[in-house]
Amino acid sequence: MKTQRVLTGITTTGTPHLGNYVGAIRPAIAASRRDDTESFYFLADFHALIKCQDPAQVAQSTKEIAATWIALGLDTDNAVFYRQSDIPEITELCWLLTCMAAKGLMNRAHAYKAAVAANQEAGEDPDFGISMGLYSYPVLMAADILMFNARQVPVGRDQIQHVEMARDIAGRFNHHYSRADKPLFTLPEAVVDDQVAVLQGLDGRKMSKSYGNTIPLFLSEKQLRKHINKIKTNLLEPGEAKDPETSTVFQIWQAFATPQQTAEMRQAFADGIAWGEAKKQLFALVDAELCEAREKYNQLLANPAHIEEILQQGAQKARRYSQPFLQQLREAVGVRALT
Ligand code: TRP
Repeated sequence: MKTQRVLTGITTTGTPHLGNYVGAIRPAIAASRRDDTESFYFLADFHALIKCQDPAQVAQSTKEIAATWIALGLDTDNAVFYRQSDIPEITELCWLLTCMAAKGLMNRAHAYKAAVAANQEAGEDPDFGISMGLYSYPVLMAADILMFNARQVPVGRDQIQHVEMARDIAGRFNHHYSRADKPLFTLPEAVVDDQVAVLQGLDGRKMSKSYGNTIPLFLSEKQLRKHINKIKTNLLEPGEAKDPETSTVFQIWQAFATPQQTAEMRQAFADGIAWGEAKKQLFALVDAELCEAREKYNQLLANPAHIEEILQQGAQKARRYSQPFLQQLREAVGVRALT
């Protein structure tokens, strides 16, 4: 029996990297296989427009991210996998919620406040370069979540505030438009998994597109080896004991290895394994986990019509929920046929 509904969105900017894989994609795909969970995963392409105004890049990233999730074995029969822009009800709901969202609440959003602070620091007008999209982004995110009445929303730490805002807006809407014993919206909760690894990138800082230190997920074998060889290490020689805790090589190893393999590598570090050898083994381990999916990924990219078909099926499934529910919401706010 499906007892919980989980929903999360992936903004379609950039190419998925190992950090995304370990931190978000792999656990989400595992969850999509559980019998007791109804998973809604979507490509947040309208969110992408906030950060990226290059049409080719938005389209390319949408294709790559969709192909990535499918290639890695997302169970699209069990999970509802769709593209945000294929669900017009979401943008319509966004307006209904915009009219219930307090402007003061949006003023407190971290992303907006950070942009204002950066402007002030630079001596610019506080609103320089800030679009209404960036400002009201939490309302669109609330619409994504509330459209499907998801209770659990797995996100990274930086998104917790947005889920709380969605909860706040939902509460206000319920209070204003529903009967107390029959709330229209489920109040969502952010689910942050502290167990999941946050990977370091090539330079030892958090792996992130904004630092330019990522290892893309589906590089060719040769490129993957090259990237792994570029991971920064210290100058310790073969035979000298190395500290696993401060090593990016070890950290990535741990994210892909069994506990047994991790224990063995820890011992190898103590025994002074050469960096070159450790990287060689790391490449073999990562490649073994990804090589089958990489092949599938390349096949999918060569056949975008197939990806499109899967997304359209997902949209159909999603709209089975969103269409009747939006009808109900329109009724509730008084947007209805005249009688
Ligand atoms: N804003 C999220 C991010 O940048 C992506 C996202 C969009 C999302 N809509 C969502 C996540 C709804 C969870 C639920 O990571």
